Amino acid sequence: MSPEDLRYLERCLELAELGARTAAPNPMVGCVLVRDGAVIGEGWHERPGSPHAEVTALAAAGDVSGATAYVSLEPCAHHGRTPPCSDALIAAGVARAVIAAIDPDPRTNGQGIERLRAAGVEVELAAGDIERRARHQNAGFRTLVRLGRPHVTYKAAVSVDGRVAHPGGEPRWISSPQSRALVHEWRARSGAVAVGIGTALADDPTLTARDCVPPAERQPLRLVFDRSARLPAESALVRSADEGPVAVVCRPGAPGIAALAAAGVEAIEVSDAGQALAELGRRGVATMLLEGGPTLAAALRGEGLVDRLALFVAPLVVGAGPNALEGWPAMRLGEGELELSSRPVGPDTLLVADVHEV
Ligand SMILES: NC(=O)c1ccc[n+]([C@@H]2O[C@H](COP(=O)([O-])OP(=O)(O)OC[C@H]3O[C@@H](n4cnc5c(N)ncnc54)[C@H](OP(=O)(O)O)[C@@H]3O)[C@@H](O)[C@H]2O)c1
Repeated sequence: MSPEDLRYLERCLELAELGARTAAPNPMVGCVLVRDGAVIGEGWHERPGSPHAEVTALAAAGDVSGATAYVSLEPCAHHGRTPPCSDALIAAGVARAVIAAIDPDPRTNGQGIERLRAAGVEVELAAGDIERRARHQNAGFRTLVRLGRPHVTYKAAVSVDGRVAHPGGEPRWISSPQSRALVHEWRARSGAVAVGIGTALADDPTLTARDCVPPAERQPLRLVFDRSARLPAESALVRSADEGPVAVVCRPGAPGIAALAAAGVEAIEVSDAGQALAELGRRGVATMLLEGGPTLAAALRGEGLVDRLALFVAPLVVGAGPNALEGWPAMRLGEGELELSSRPVGPDTLLVADVHEV
């Protein structure tokens, strides 16, 4: 693959990213059409029901005969709300397709590539860093189609000694305003945001996506893992139920269900967390941001239900109190194919590590 090919695939990832808040449960996809070294059309997938990236790019380009199509995800091979994009590229006369990542949707999964090749289109598949980043961009979509549940990121703000709270429950932020602003953007991009009842009682969070630029056009489903449905009616979550959906994940027939229902809070009645995530999957929730606390995170990790770890490490030592990774098995982050990255966010360091490949 030439440096020029890589440059256009980078542009595809950039275009795909424009759908970060809206495309789910569909994938984010970007497409660039190039002929004689010039871009003749670009497109990205905005939301379910809107045209696929390839279709938008083809419409923008007009005559594309002999052109190269760059796409961040394999063109689809199935009839959904729109006809297959692989067929659209063939019909338009594209000569070459450069694809960043294969689509794991069983209705496509290599068949888009086969259709293109069978029609005489030269197909090149990316490898290495760009392919990995293209897969990671669609971690939610890929997990949903492969496992029928959302991709789960456990996010925590920790001190350098790994604590998530100040001793004695003193309500003070651990992470910086810059880190908290980033979390609001993550909430705006998530299908669901979840905490355990311990955190709901200790911190009384609202869990809405606020102070985002541009403002969030929809709120994530806010979930409390609360087996006996004891989330108080006066909690910020219940009081803000009119700002966006709130649900508790509880045991079937849990005592508090009726009172919460009266306050506009749904009960997802299941016998374990795995069932709860499967129910979210059925609703098309592709990503869940798990905002703690450590007890719930360890339980989900124990069941293989945490896919990514995102720790905002703040430059302070708390000295005592709950640890973000209490109960986790020993593991070396970033081993094998798994990604590990770190970057400064204000005075904090954001450490992101994948627990499962996508
Ligand atoms: N710094 C940070 O980023 C951050 C983030 C979150 C929390 N925190 C801090 O963490 C502390 C609270 O942590 P925590 O560990 O006590 O609370 P937690 O993990 O939020 O909640 C624990 C509770 O979740 C419920 N639960 C529901 N389903 C569960 C399951 N499948 N497995 C395990 N538990 C389940 C259990 O209560 P039931 O049995 O009643 O359902 C359990 O007691 C607070 O001090 C808070 O400030 C810090």
